[in-house]
Amino acid sequence: MNEKLVNDLHELDRKYFFHPSTHMRAHADGETPSRIIRGGEGVHIWDTDGQKTLDAFAGLYCVNVGYGRQEIADAIHKQASELAYYHTYVGHGNEPVIRLSQRIVEKAPKGMKRVYYGMSGSDANETNIKLVWYYNNILGRPEKKKIISRWRGYHGSGIMTGSLTGLELFHNAFDLPRAPILHTSTPHYYWNAKEGETELDFSKRLAAELEEMILAEGPETVAAFIGEPVLGTGGIVPPPEGYWAEIQAVLKKYDILLIADEVVTAFGRTGSYFGSQHYDMEPDLITIAKGVSSGYLPLSGVIVGERVWQVLEQGSDQLGPIGHGWTYSAHPVCAAAANANLDIVDGEDLTGNARETGAYLQQRLHETFDDHPIVGEVRGVGLMAALEFVADKEKKERFDPALKVGPQISAACLEQGMIARAMPHGDILGFAPPLIITKDEVDQVVTKAKAAVDKVAATL
Ligand SMILES: Cc1ncc(COP(=O)(O)O)c(C=O)c1O
Repeated sequence: MNEKLVNDLHELDRKYFFHPSTHMRAHADGETPSRIIRGGEGVHIWDTDGQKTLDAFAGLYCVNVGYGRQEIADAIHKQASELAYYHTYVGHGNEPVIRLSQRIVEKAPKGMKRVYYGMSGSDANETNIKLVWYYNNILGRPEKKKIISRWRGYHGSGIMTGSLTGLELFHNAFDLPRAPILHTSTPHYYWNAKEGETELDFSKRLAAELEEMILAEGPETVAAFIGEPVLGTGGIVPPPEGYWAEIQAVLKKYDILLIADEVVTAFGRTGSYFGSQHYDMEPDLITIAKGVSSGYLPLSGVIVGERVWQVLEQGSDQLGPIGHGWTYSAHPVCAAAANANLDIVDGEDLTGNARETGAYLQQRLHETFDDHPIVGEVRGVGLMAALEFVADKEKKERFDPALKVGPQISAACLEQGMIARAMPHGDILGFAPPLIITKDEVDQVVTKAKAAVDKVAATL
């Protein structure tokens, strides 16, 4: 692209485009960098200035099959030519979505029955909340409505889903969270364990705290618990030992539904097809998005388990057709993209690659950073990992947030030609590359990260 065109685009961007998660005034006034992405291939993207970057965060951990997959583009073209759209209300279907539903249910944790579709992880979690409330109304328990989420959980940006999200950044000045949503403790052993407490003891303590919360609220008022198998946007934190077993025991005791938010973890990222399978979770509802279509087109879903499905059928008998639908539910072109995407995930065994190359990534990060003076914790599972930076390793003291150490290191990674994401809760650098990444590319990721961390550490 010639220079004038590129400059015009940057100007128009600052003048007309309302970016998500962006400092409005600084962007409009040109004080912060803007980047216009033009293309991608494999694990790389490039921009209008010709700068090529290794994307070690797969967009927003969604482009699992990598950029530039012609098979998906062809499937989109074919389906759009054949049938670009028809609604799926009152029993209408289309072939791609029927086939997609079958393959998802067959690979999902046991007991899953049907898939409901939306366009984003946020709308899928809105659907979950409605289903949980409907479920209890049909069962004649209108007071059982509260949903428990976790501090540092991320479940979306809508009114209810933004409320579920346990990050204050997403609440401030939006009048969130809205009742009836409660937040329980973050399962982050590194920061939250007591002196001498084992991981298992820590998990037991969190389960006991959850039980206390349920008893204080009244179990007859608590409907569901929602959690990501691995905390994602809250800092890529795998659960401590025994966590899900302990939490599930409490939920079972008080007849509380479990929603596994697998927007990030479904379709291979942890090294298992679903994160629920990785951690022996038995959810009643599973949220999917991102990896189902690798972001080639927007698609999300709620996988509904037996217990809820039976009550939904009962609800239709009592009340008639369910009053919940989006115009674009089960969009045929998005479903065709998802099928082509999952053909790649399955055909290339990307779950296996997440397991093997993921183990290599974790090992290389540990070797390189465990003894680094400003790295407090190296953590992760499969192809998701994080480094957490601290001012004092011995005393476990954070840096002054004003120093913005995490964002500085992320910016230094970009100078090295790599995207690794500064996560919003602490000085954390996150990695979640496309699942096609090779060991050579992992070496590049680690080398670039090391150079970036050393550069910023030298200035502190
Ligand atoms: C676990 C989880 N749930 C829900 C969402 C919301 O998805 P979306 O941004 O597609 O609305 C995200 C997005 O990152 C997520 O990570």
